[in-house]
Amino acid sequence: MTTPDFTPIPARRPRRLRTTPAMRDMVSETSLRPADLILPMFFADGLSEAREISSMPGVHQHTLDSLKSAVEEGLAAGVRCFDIFGVPLDSDKDATGSPAWDPDGVLNRALSALRSEFGNDAIIMADTCLDEFTDHGHCGVLSTDRYGETVVDNDATLPLYQQMAVAQAEAGAHIVSPSGMMDGQVLAIREALDAAGFDDVAIMAYSAKYASAFFGPFREAVGSSLQGDRRTYQQDPANLRESLLEVELDIEEGADFVMVKPAMPYLDVLSEVAQLSSVPVAAYQVSGEYAMLQAAGRNGWVDLDAVMMESLISIKRAGADQILTYFAVDAAKALAR
Ligand code: PBG
Repeated sequence: MTTPDFTPIPARRPRRLRTTPAMRDMVSETSLRPADLILPMFFADGLSEAREISSMPGVHQHTLDSLKSAVEEGLAAGVRCFDIFGVPLDSDKDATGSPAWDPDGVLNRALSALRSEFGNDAIIMADTCLDEFTDHGHCGVLSTDRYGETVVDNDATLPLYQQMAVAQAEAGAHIVSPSGMMDGQVLAIREALDAAGFDDVAIMAYSAKYASAFFGPFREAVGSSLQGDRRTYQQDPANLRESLLEVELDIEEGADFVMVKPAMPYLDVLSEVAQLSSVPVAAYQVSGEYAMLQAAGRNGWVDLDAVMMESLISIKRAGADQILTYFAVDAAKALAR
């Protein structure tokens, strides 16, 4: 029997850098810090106590008291930024979403309570979109086009976003975050904020936002009234180039951050956006991503803590600077261990 003539290449052994925990730590290319994480939170009108969202275990619709304690817990773990969504009573919703700019509307009450409680220790971010507040559940106002079809009217929606953003700034938001995917929304909001004297309030633009089934559990979280879908304003999951245009436009219009959403199914988009962007790039690990990991973890099918950290480091590796995630506080606590 002849031995095969095989010579390993002794000089190239990547395993050398994996030999010990200290070595692996030293050569780690990506890091995750609690301050990278943004916690999305829900404040609901008319609750006497916090209510867990059944499809998002561990995530609650808050009362004002439970909202404040949850922010406090996040701050203690090193999370800096809290993204607030308002859940109005169905009876307060209307065709234009007017509770969105009412200073006594559910979201604005939460923003001002948090700003007066935490001052500048926390970064208070507001979701700037009408879908929670309209009785039809769309992100803009409806009108009838010349063929008699009902459409979400881009240009009629922009002034409402302007009023909403100014009301949020007045309530104390440090960052507003237009998520409705109307063309020109960033410019419209920047102009309105500046005209009202809020040139210090930043805009985190949902730039590349896809019409995604991964938003499913969020619809329960906000008690959405939507029938149908958002495909005339959110993007087709098949498209990447379109996201680069959206990002370019949002930066031109004055976005201080751009965002890609969802995160895990769109890491290729995130990676390209990160290469092109001149402003920080956020990624939103959405409700359905969270629900999938929780479901598998709670069934004992995966190690929940491990997949949580792996998913977050992967989103950072793909190019995210900030990550919006319902795991923010759990992950920040895990980082401290
Ligand atoms: C719309 C909005 C949505 C989410 C954040 N902002 C839902 C949608 O576009 O249908 C989804 C967030 C999540 O799924 O975690 N204002």
